[in-house]
Amino acid sequence: MSQSVNILGATGSIGSSTLDIINAYPEEFSVFGVSAHSNVEKLAEIAMAHKAKCAVIADETQYDALKEKLKGTDVEVLAGAEGLKEMASEPVDISVAAITGMAALEPTLAAIENSKKVAFASKECLVGAGKIMMDAVEKSGTVFLPVDSEHNAIFQVFETAQHNAIERLILTASGGPFRTRQDLSNVTTAEALAHPNWDMGKKISVDSSTMMNKALEIIEAHYLFNMPAEKIDVIVHPQSIVHSMVEYKDGSVLAQLGAPDMRTPITYCLGYPERIETTGDRLSLADMAQLNFEAVDDVRFPAIRLAYEALNKGQEACIAFNAANEILVAAFLENEIAYLDISAGVEYILNTAKYDTVKTIQDVLVLDKEIREQTRSLIQTKELERLRA
Ligand SMILES: NC(=O)c1ccc[n+]([C@@H]2O[C@H](COP(=O)([O-])OP(=O)(O)OC[C@H]3O[C@@H](n4cnc5c(N)ncnc54)[C@H](OP(=O)(O)O)[C@@H]3O)[C@@H](O)[C@H]2O)c1
Repeated sequence: MSQSVNILGATGSIGSSTLDIINAYPEEFSVFGVSAHSNVEKLAEIAMAHKAKCAVIADETQYDALKEKLKGTDVEVLAGAEGLKEMASEPVDISVAAITGMAALEPTLAAIENSKKVAFASKECLVGAGKIMMDAVEKSGTVFLPVDSEHNAIFQVFETAQHNAIERLILTASGGPFRTRQDLSNVTTAEALAHPNWDMGKKISVDSSTMMNKALEIIEAHYLFNMPAEKIDVIVHPQSIVHSMVEYKDGSVLAQLGAPDMRTPITYCLGYPERIETTGDRLSLADMAQLNFEAVDDVRFPAIRLAYEALNKGQEACIAFNAANEILVAAFLENEIAYLDISAGVEYILNTAKYDTVKTIQDVLVLDKEIREQTRSLIQTKELERLRA
């Protein structure tokens, strides 16, 4: 029988790769719901092409436009945070959580509570609310599978019964577009968006260039695999073929390899526990001249050090880390701040933010909002320019 699928963030890069795989399996998967933030055109196209039952536009001002585009079809049109939650609460077989940023938190939690399986890409919300989310996974019993290629790789070679025999998780990082560039003071948005190996959304592309993406992934790995910070390492691997590794105390290092194509981990998640054919690229080791590994340059890329600091400080610092980064990346993409201000601003917020202990989702959302406001005022008061000087 066909499995029903909700795609939160259907118009994005992960959403498109998911739809590409679903297209190849018309008997096995059927799209139930699709969502976007504001891309009405693409969302309507996807909803019609896949005969979705429901389409949600998160930006409520676009509701009428989407309704108009889907006039005469059977697609139910919803909007806003409530609409997203309603769609994510449907008891579907699979939810693909691929909304960028903390905005993914509430719909992803609804999906965790109501879907049989969740293919999870939205790392930012796990960074901000890791314990709450993993508790929700345990409570609901949903099968929670990481889409992120590194965590998907670790998941595939992680022997749960041998948790105590795991020495460390080794996350690989491509090093991004500036791996060998020494002077990062004049980086443009176009340069930061040009990732050498992966074709991704804008936010994650900038995060890859600053290595904030790997920093977020360290925190993501901590929560997903219940591993302390000191057992999570990062190594630069420019070819993005070895997607990550687990080292056991007997000296064995288990790795998962594949072409740098997100359709492999997404196919793994959709098919799980079966292994099904991917529509993505295949790895040809014979065509690879070499696989290289090198240490992270902590001076040019302070993000990795900051992630460990945030983890050691606790959940509240992780919220601050993520929220500050989201605001600073958006400001960089709008040409409001310089490239190096992203890491400098995150470090400043991490060192200066004051917060109470967070216990509930409401606490998380309140702190997230406060940090966003603090980061915006950091940008407006030109404090960043002073930090740079
Ligand atoms: N791309 C990758 O290869 C990759 C790999 C690993 C993990 N991830 C993670 O997967 C997530 C998605 O990445 P992506 O590259 O697919 O991003 P993307 O191409 O920018 O797509 C993001 C999707 O989320 C929607 N969205 C954005 N902001 C939203 C909001 N405030 N409320 C509701 N929906 C919103 C977008 O709608 P609109 O189109 O209307 O803006 C779009 O559908 C991120 O957390 C990223 O870190 C991505």
